[in-house]
Amino acid sequence: MITGSEPFNNPGSDFLWWRDGIIYQIYPRSFADTNSDGVGDLNGITEKLDHIATLGVDAIWISPINPSPMYDFGYDVSDYESIDPVFGNLMDFDRLIAEAHRRRIRVVMDLVLNHTSHLHPWFIASRSNRDDPKRDWYIWNDVGPSGRLPNNWQSTFGGRAWEFDPRTGQVYYHQFLKEQPDLNWRNPQVRERIYQVLRFWLNRGVDGFRLDVVMSYFKDSQFRNNPVKLFGLYAFDRQIHKYDLDQPEVISVLQDFREVLDEYPERMAVGEVIDLDMALRYVGRDKLHLAFNFDFLRQPWNAASFHRSILRYIRRLPSDAQPCFVLGNHDVNRFPSRFGAGIHSDNRTKVAATLLLTLPGTPFIYYGEEIGMQNTPIPRADIQDPPGWRFWPFYKGRDPARTPMQWTADKNSGFTTGIPWLRLNKDFQIRNVSTQNANPESILNYYKKMISLRRITPSLRQGSYQPVTGKPSQVLAYLRQYSSENCLVILNFKNRNINFLIPQPPADTVWDLRLSSRRAEPVRSSGGEFTLHPLEACIFSAIQR
Ligand code: NOJ
Repeated sequence: MITGSEPFNNPGSDFLWWRDGIIYQIYPRSFADTNSDGVGDLNGITEKLDHIATLGVDAIWISPINPSPMYDFGYDVSDYESIDPVFGNLMDFDRLIAEAHRRRIRVVMDLVLNHTSHLHPWFIASRSNRDDPKRDWYIWNDVGPSGRLPNNWQSTFGGRAWEFDPRTGQVYYHQFLKEQPDLNWRNPQVRERIYQVLRFWLNRGVDGFRLDVVMSYFKDSQFRNNPVKLFGLYAFDRQIHKYDLDQPEVISVLQDFREVLDEYPERMAVGEVIDLDMALRYVGRDKLHLAFNFDFLRQPWNAASFHRSILRYIRRLPSDAQPCFVLGNHDVNRFPSRFGAGIHSDNRTKVAATLLLTLPGTPFIYYGEEIGMQNTPIPRADIQDPPGWRFWPFYKGRDPARTPMQWTADKNSGFTTGIPWLRLNKDFQIRNVSTQNANPESILNYYKKMISLRRITPSLRQGSYQPVTGKPSQVLAYLRQYSSENCLVILNFKNRNINFLIPQPPADTVWDLRLSSRRAEPVRSSGGEFTLHPLEACIFSAIQR
């Protein structure tokens, strides 16, 4: 059995960090605050690198840290080549990279290139007058008689996507807030300038980029109306996004990005896309290295739903593309709350974590998942997230998944000595890194064992995926195989004992239980009936008889 104390070993020379490793997402405002202003900072991340290293992950993705007026908490950039003072400065960033690399942790930056802040000097110039050289860097349009807008496009964050600018008498397009005008990617000067931005960070030692909303870069050149749909809670959802998203030109930009990245060794780009179809089309040898598959975010707690979701994706993924499953991020409810189940939630969390970490592809862990952090209810008066204000009470925004990391049982959970920008979850005194480090049964120690096992088991990283059928709505089971090495993963989604028929191991081997979320005693099986504990996750590997 894996004990979690294995050294941070070198898993072999064919180990490619973004393909075989695990990436840990940090929402920097909420990770660790070193200057007592209540907001996390880069020095805080540097200070916590040992936690990240002992967890055993290979890279961190840091949500945006560029200067920003923070209308969308960094997803509205006012300077692509600097660091917002609330997070620190370029020297802090260089130190973070050096310290991360010293621990063999790669650093992935979040680049928000679809839009800028309305306070970016490019937009200030663009809106200053119709003849400004930067006018065409954004998407401007005339309004029709009696103020008719160019088309029916809606903003994702509510309202129409066109904003009238009285100074020059035209409207500009914004897919998100009106404080986030969209760049005009059809303008070659914009593209060239953005490629310089990539090089700026690559030259500083950044290992990769998470590209915000890549499917949004291009809009229809004729600005045609989107077809409408009958159903959908918000106006944006009542349209088929035929003309404002996923235009064919985006692929050539992804190819350009790839060329820039390939000038440097082992660099990576992961794209945020909104649906499975794009996640399949945007990745490959000359496009993105990875694109998030968000399908798990929509699955109920049911083994059969996950089974179908996995097959829907991996059966269609091109052979030169790497899978990428996700359970959470800064935009969605935390998965331990989403999958629910009250006092059984922590057991479900371990099952879900096992799933994520034993599937083919590159797993992303959102900060706090490793201790099973839950959503934090935020009263209306404290809401920070703009869509939360706008759509309350139908939608309460993304703050509940963005609360401060829970480090200790002390005041503010050791996150800050100031006043935290967002309240902490009430459970921090029992759910925190320090308490869980000391408890061998904790979610944190389970993550460490799981990650350590994955690291030393090539089939869990690069192996083929073969579903094992049996009890489809109760148990999800699959084989992973890589050369002569075999693993069997069995996940009991039910909170009761389930008898499961273990398939026969390959010739001359037996199944040896390497890790279970619910038992410590050894198990060997040559196939046949096996009783799973309630909500138990098991990983077996085939060993010589
Ligand atoms: C997607 C990001 O994940 C989200 O947080 C942000 O609000 C929008 N893009 C706009 O940049």
